[in-house]
This record gives sequence, C-alpha cells and structure tokens, in this order.
Amino acid sequence: MGALVGKRIVLGVSGGIAAYKAIEICRRLVDAGAHVVPVLTKGAEHFVGRTTFSALASEPVQSSLWDEAEPIPHTRLGQSADLVLVAPATARLIGAYTAGISSDLLTATLLATRAKVLVCPAMHTEMWEHPAVQENLATLRRRGVEVVAPESGRLAGGDIGHGRLAAPETIVAAVERALVEPDLRGRTVVVTAGGTREPIDAVRVIANRSSGKQGYAVAAEAAARGARVVLVSTVTLPVPPGEVRVVPVETAADMQAAVQAEALGADIVVMAAAVADFRPVAPAAGKIKKDGGVPEIRLEPTPDILAGLGANKPAGQVLVGFAAETSDLHANASSKLERKRLDLIVANDVSQPGVGFHHDTNAVTIVRRVGDPISVGLRGKREVAKAVLDAAVALLAPRQ
Ligand code: C5P
Repeated sequence: MGALVGKRIVLGVSGGIAAYKAIEICRRLVDAGAHVVPVLTKGAEHFVGRTTFSALASEPVQSSLWDEAEPIPHTRLGQSADLVLVAPATARLIGAYTAGISSDLLTATLLATRAKVLVCPAMHTEMWEHPAVQENLATLRRRGVEVVAPESGRLAGGDIGHGRLAAPETIVAAVERALVEPDLRGRTVVVTAGGTREPIDAVRVIANRSSGKQGYAVAAEAAARGARVVLVSTVTLPVPPGEVRVVPVETAADMQAAVQAEALGADIVVMAAAVADFRPVAPAAGKIKKDGGVPEIRLEPTPDILAGLGANKPAGQVLVGFAAETSDLHANASSKLERKRLDLIVANDVSQPGVGFHHDTNAVTIVRRVGDPISVGLRGKREVAKAVLDAAVALLAPRQ
C-alpha cells in the first residue's frame, strides 16, 4: 500500500495563476489513494472553477467559513486532516498564515490543525524575493511547516524568473515523504537499474529488454523513506525526488566498478538491473563492415556483480537480488539466494501477463533466508518496491 492510501489531505488553493496546476495535484493525490478535501480561497475561484475540483476530489469544494449546514467547518477540516497542503500559496496567504489571521476558511483551517502543513509558494520573482515573504517563510519553517521551494521558469504575463510553483510530481512526492514513516533516514541505499549494453563494435551492442522501471521505483521509495540513494543506472528515466545521486553506466564492467565503490558504505544494496551474462571477448574498435561477411562474435561471461558483493559483504549490510524466471520460480530463486549469499531475492515470473520487463506492474515472490516467502500479487512497481524495502528494513540491525 502506498503512503497516501486512506490519508485525509486538505488541499488549500489560493489565488494565483498556478491554481490550475492544483487540479493536476488533486488528481494525482486521489489516484494515489488519498481522500482529498479541496478548500479554495475567493481569489482561487477567479482562476479555477469549483466544479473541476468537486469532480476530481473526494469531497465537494469548500470555501466559506459561513456554511449554514456546518457552522464551524474549519475545525472539522483541521482536526481530521492528516496533512494540509497549500498549492499554490500566494504572498497574501503566507502572510496571513504567518500572522495568525484567520480571515477565510483556508487560513482558519491552517490555524485549526495540528497536522503536518506543506506550503508551496508561487508568485512573481519580485514578490518571492521580498523580505516580507522570505521572513514569513523563515518563521513558518521554524514552526515546522515544510516549504516546497518554487522553481525558475515562465511566470504569468510572459515573464521568466524564480517563483514558479514546483512541479506537481515534486509536490506529490513531498506529500508522500511527509506522510511516510522515515525508516530509512540516515541510511544509504544503492540500487541498480536497467539492462547493461555490451559493445560488439563501435555502433552495435548486446542489450536486453529491461526498462529500469522497477529499479527506479525502488530508488523512489527508498528516497521517500528518507534514504540517501545512489542509483547506478543504464537508462535515463526522470530522477526520483529526494536525495538521489545517479551514476550512469553502460556495461557490466562499468556497473561492477560503480557498484563496488558505492556498496562499501551502503546499508542496503538492491541489484534490480538486468546484467548481461555474456559479452563479446574483443569488441571491434570501428564499425564491422557488412561486405566483410557474417562475423563470428566470440562471447565470454561477464563478472557476477552480485555474487562478488555477497562474497565481500560488510557486516550488517542487507543484499537484495532480483531473479527473472520463466519456470520453477521458487526453487531457482532459492538456489540463487544461497549461491550469491543474498539476504533477499525478489523473484518474478516474467512469462506471466503484466509482469516484469517494460510493464508498469509486477508480481513477485520475495524469498528470504529466514521466514516464509512473501508473495506480492500483481500491482504497481512502486508498491512492489515498498514490499521489497519493508522486507529489507526488517533485516537492518537497529542503530546504536
Ligand atoms: O543469475 P541471475 O542473472 O538470474 O541473477 C540475477 C541477479 O543477479 C540480479 O539481481 C542481477 O542484477 C544480478 N547479476 C549480477 N551480475 C551478473 C548477472 C546478474 O549482479 N553478471
């Protein structure tokens, strides 16, 4: 289950041009399983329609302190929220919240809540840089409010500068981080992702069908749980939000060098990459010409990176492998667990529909050294990542 499932989120929208992006944020939060209650200021209603939010959110829009059916809506909203998110937050909204002025439903709800509050400012550069705004934000931060920093880019009226609302995916990831238990805070997690490419000549490679999506999902989940993540990757998917450092690699040899260096200080290593088992012995320096006849390409085995890590594993490190199988899932996975000296192996039957390469879903069995296997039915790769990290965290020794 994702961090947002069943969480009550008040989505406060104040009156800036970026209010239209709150629609996308609302949809993403609902898709992730949250119960979203939209609260619009009068200003927001100049930019976006109530109907849009009411249709997408979990409850109809609320915007008035003076509702005859419910005399004091702000206390119910504030008390029942797991999190209050304000996106976009205008300079006025930030000022009123900092000063403790409850002049509308949103500011009253902000004062009536003890839940975590995330504020996502959006305004013109001059306003963003104004000392009044910066001092207000510093005060809010000191009080424990999280400020999701704006970005640079196009602003209203065609201007370009700092102050643009953070991207919806960045904001949703910040919400996830705020709601998730930070059980990997202070830990380092190394994840490999994608398939290696082994050169045949200057232009051709031996590759495989791995998309890297499962590895990126593990990296995203680890970062959301507070880990420092090193993502050793052969693919260029969007870098997950949080503390994620990408080390780009191409071949099994590159990946081995990167992983060996990075794994030394890691608490958890997850080898989700599909590493080639064979590579050309002597790749040609130039392009092999067609008119020279069909070439014979001699292959040699690549180093087994994971087995190398298993043989030299530092005390306390949790080592996780993946096994894509098409038959005898459990037996094959268990023997790899033993042979490569792993703590966990995540086995998937890639012959099943919706499982493995290129899909957004996966179905796996997590085989452990101690304890029964954990079966994770067909679900999103992020949810699979969560189950894998839950099993890995359970094996981490408590810190001194
Ligand atoms: O033996 P098999 O290739 O099925 O093992 C899969 C696991 O071993 C994966 O975690 C993969 O990343 C890792 N592996 C490796 N080096 C190789 C081949 C596989 O680290 N040369």
